[in-house]
Amino acid sequence: MSKIQQTLSIIKPDAVERNLSEEIKNEFKNNNFDILKEKKVKISKSEAEKFYQVHQSKPFYNDLCEYLSSGPIVVMVLEKNDAILENRKLMGATDPIKAEEGTLRKKYGISIDKNSVHGSDSLDNAKIEIDFFFKD
Ligand code: CMP
Repeated sequence: MSKIQQTLSIIKPDAVERNLSEEIKNEFKNNNFDILKEKKVKISKSEAEKFYQVHQSKPFYNDLCEYLSSGPIVVMVLEKNDAILENRKLMGATDPIKAEEGTLRKKYGISIDKNSVHGSDSLDNAKIEIDFFFKD
């Protein structure tokens, strides 16, 4: 049975820089996601390191954190039935070259780093990631 869930979505610097934020937000709305919260921020490298700490042992960790902190991003809390899985389907594979036709990363992504959007990969991580940006 499907369940209402919330997930964290980030429109990454490459997409914000190309003025794609409104277009990407409309993709979420057209796919029946409710955008419950939204803000545009620029985070520091150390904040990016904290956000991506699950990847700290990966060879791409440093570049990833440099990148996420390189320019403004739009962070959103999205809600829908099965939001986590549905958002991952809408985003497509991490590497835009491998992403299916019609997915956000296929449409907008430039490379595996500049892949335009991030989405939480599990319910536990969604809670952690939403708190990271929206706990006050
Ligand atoms: P994201 O969903 O934001 O989660 C971690 C990010 O690391 C991922 O998107 C990619 O942009 C980036 N990344 C860079 N290299 C790799 C890789 N080899 N495998 C997975 N993710 C990578």
